[in-house]
Amino acid sequence: MKKVTTAVIREQKKLGQPISMLTAYDYSFARVLDEAGVDMLLVGDSLGNVMLGYQTTLPVTMEDMLHHVKAVCRGVNRALVVADMPFMSYQVSIEEAVRNAGRLLQEAGAQAVKLEGGQEFEGTVRAIVKAGIPVVGHLGLTPQAVHQLGGYKVQGKEEAAAKKLLADARALEACGAFAVVLECVPEALASKVTDELGIPTIGIGAGAGCDGQVLVTQDMLGLFPGNKAKFVKEYANLHEIITGAVKSYISEVQARKYPGAEHSFKMDEAVLEKLY
Ligand code: KIV
Repeated sequence: MKKVTTAVIREQKKLGQPISMLTAYDYSFARVLDEAGVDMLLVGDSLGNVMLGYQTTLPVTMEDMLHHVKAVCRGVNRALVVADMPFMSYQVSIEEAVRNAGRLLQEAGAQAVKLEGGQEFEGTVRAIVKAGIPVVGHLGLTPQAVHQLGGYKVQGKEEAAAKKLLADARALEACGAFAVVLECVPEALASKVTDELGIPTIGIGAGAGCDGQVLVTQDMLGLFPGNKAKFVKEYANLHEIITGAVKSYISEVQARKYPGAEHSFKMDEAVLEKLY
């Protein structure tokens, strides 16, 4: 088993080997996903929605991130673990950004951090990279800016926005980012960015032309029924599987069918008799 490093991820682009990335927020899922062979695990601030039930990622704190990154790292042997920098952990000052990025590696065990934004964070990305911390950029639909963007919409459809996204991607590479996530951008724009950059692009709702793909694990496993984003493909229906299993458990408990003899512990009859 060879540990995935940032060098391996860069090499995958050079060799044309697609990069697989999924989100993980806890030890159990991290173990399963790592053992299945995913290249990168993202402890996304989407944990705010998926694990904590918030409407947006904005309430997620550094303490939330540290707690979940630690749990994920305990379950991983091979995958490269990337930790999201939560809202307000890198926007206030470069000094705070470097300190918070450092905590995600030093205290929690991540191997890289991800932050949202382009040219406006050039200085921040440079300083974090200078501290020896690998950075993944995140462009297109940046959920921490949901109120500025006016909702969760496809980005970069107009000429000015597409040119800005391309310039942002080039700036991130120039500042030392080793990969960039492209979220909800037209396929043709994501392919253009991918062709222009020497570092890998990882798409989510950005089409097949990216160097890799990322999805929220609970979405691709079909944990939550109902409306899903156009780009989500459900590879399983965990909601149905879990609901069926739990209903069987409830009815077996109610019918006293569970636990059976095979699930129960025996004791010596002689010891038992002494209790009467
Ligand atoms: O937080 C997250 O899960 C993400 C992915 C959507 C890329 O940033």
